[in-house]
Amino acid sequence: MSHNHSFEFDPKLAARRKFLRHTALALSGVAIGVPALKAAAECKITEQEILGPMYNYGAPVFQLKLAEDGEPGQRLLLRGAVLSSDCKTPLANTLIEIWQADDKGMYDKAQPGNFLENMKPHLRGMILTDAKGRYEIETIVPGAYPIPPGVPGLEKYGNLTRARHIHIKVEPFLHTSLTTQLYFKGDEHLAGDPWGGHKPALALDMKQDGKFMKADFDFVLGTGLKG
Ligand SMILES: [Fe+2]
Repeated sequence: MSHNHSFEFDPKLAARRKFLRHTALALSGVAIGVPALKAAAECKITEQEILGPMYNYGAPVFQLKLAEDGEPGQRLLLRGAVLSSDCKTPLANTLIEIWQADDKGMYDKAQPGNFLENMKPHLRGMILTDAKGRYEIETIVPGAYPIPPGVPGLEKYGNLTRARHIHIKVEPFLHTSLTTQLYFKGDEHLAGDPWGGHKPALALDMKQDGKFMKADFDFVLGTGLKG
């Protein structure tokens, strides 16, 4: 009479199978531990950038639309959250200030470096994160522009075309504030940009969705606390 070994109950074999199953679980635990460790390694405070001469104090408050519907340029929906240094805890009611060039690379300011210029704000505004620390900004992809020749301290970059960028300030009340710039992956001027060229983590990964390009970006702020 033939019998199938797989139906035979053998306590030693059963114990061995259990051991193998546990080993496999342990090994798969190691395997899934790799991306988890990678994700942990990627939790970093968002890098700082200069304020630049095109900042202006007192930008208007807006909701969702920084760029009005008729604004020329590629529509961009920028979304994400402001998070604490653990990359998890949301920072509600945090002020985000944004300013950028238009599609042709022009800012609304006529007096670079004068932060108290009295002009009509354009593509410049302030918004608060919601209760979950989230924000959503509808704007356009800014145009690239050259650094003017002869700017004190930037003489060697005169006429260099900067990578497209959006200026951002994030102003929380119990964390350290952030001044930065967001760039765009694939931008031909990014590698040579004196600021963004060495900060790939600040480059947005845009995805086309109908008339929109969509990009997600989470800002991670330091607590300012020891440890
Ligand atoms: Fe700029």
